Amino acid sequence: MSPKLKLIQVGLGNWGADWATKVLPQLEDLEVVGWVDSSRASQAAFIERVGVAREAVFSSFAEAHAAHDDVKIVFAPVAFGAHAKVAREVLEAGCHLLLEKPLTLDTDSSRELIRLAAARDLVFGIDQNYRWGAGVPVVRRLLTEGAAGALRNVAVRFHRDHEGVRNDALTEMTIHHLDLMRYFFDANGSAVTCVPHTPISTRDQGTDGADLIIELDSGLVVNYHLSTNGVSASTPWSGYWQISGDEGMLTWGEATYDAQPQAPVRIIRLDGSVEEIEVPQPTGLRDRAGVMRMFLDAVGGQGSPSSPAADNFHSVALLEAALDSAAGDSKVAVVEK
Ligand SMILES: NC(=O)c1ccc[n+]([C@@H]2O[C@H](COP(=O)([O-])OP(=O)(O)OC[C@H]3O[C@@H](n4cnc5c(N)ncnc54)[C@H](O)[C@@H]3O)[C@@H](O)[C@H]2O)c1
Repeated sequence: MSPKLKLIQVGLGNWGADWATKVLPQLEDLEVVGWVDSSRASQAAFIERVGVAREAVFSSFAEAHAAHDDVKIVFAPVAFGAHAKVAREVLEAGCHLLLEKPLTLDTDSSRELIRLAAARDLVFGIDQNYRWGAGVPVVRRLLTEGAAGALRNVAVRFHRDHEGVRNDALTEMTIHHLDLMRYFFDANGSAVTCVPHTPISTRDQGTDGADLIIELDSGLVVNYHLSTNGVSASTPWSGYWQISGDEGMLTWGEATYDAQPQAPVRIIRLDGSVEEIEVPQPTGLRDRAGVMRMFLDAVGGQGSPSSPAADNFHSVALLEAALDSAAGDSKVAVVEK
């Protein structure tokens, strides 16, 4: 049996612990030799929850890498405010990096990191895992086949009354949905108007919800509603999509008063009939485990990561525009003379 691939994980918060307990153990050829977090409290909570040895936990990537200088692979589910700093340090140390979403909140820092990885010939991927949901390939295939006819408009609705994303919904959630828009409609962004439900004045300030008009460079306009407060019908994490065309409306997901909304794919025809489309359950390593598998294979010279940072850059560009619109003053006031 070939030796296991050694990895350092940076970020031992809630999501880092979720990865360590549910996802990484699925990858049998992987061994995590160092666990890093700058917060003593996060380290202690992680050790308690995951049960790793105290000696394997470090306060910085530099410390962990000094102790394991043969490690060439890093996974970073670290707080998004630290993404640019941690990614720069890891790439400068000559390590391949799988970074949690959002890559960063602005294109300048993303571009710098992508160039750094390219200059050193390093694999740099992003865990933009919603692209790997069961319904995603089905929706994409139907759109490619023109199942709804010529597309006219799109509405995407997200509502979850969830403490975990409430403070940063626009940065934590919207990047997933913007990335899916690019993937489904084979387009990048051209303009975004964003009205946050709680005013913000800087990109990283955080808001609980927003309404956005997203103009794609294909000419398609998406109406996107993001909400984490109040009583409303809940959607799956991937949202409720209504994609309207001349010959029908393709829907993915639903908005219900059920705590566990599902993500069926349907086509509503001109005559009002509803066709349920089968969504096959993926086989093999799914979702985040699949993202990690593709990243490790890319490091080994096979294929590319599921969301290469260089492609994900275009999703960051959309997010940056949304945050700048939210934080700026691009509204036209209604003046009643
Ligand atoms: N893909 C998904 O669906 C998904 C879901 C949840 C979270 N995430 C992402 O995972 C990342 C972590 O989220 P979380 O909910 O665990 O956040 P969190 O705040 O619970 O944990 C982040 C951890 O990073 C640590 N940290 C901050 N700066 C650091 C530094 N310079 N070096 C080392 N450690 C540092 C903090 O101490 C904290 O323990 C974020 O990027 C978030 O967007 C992705």
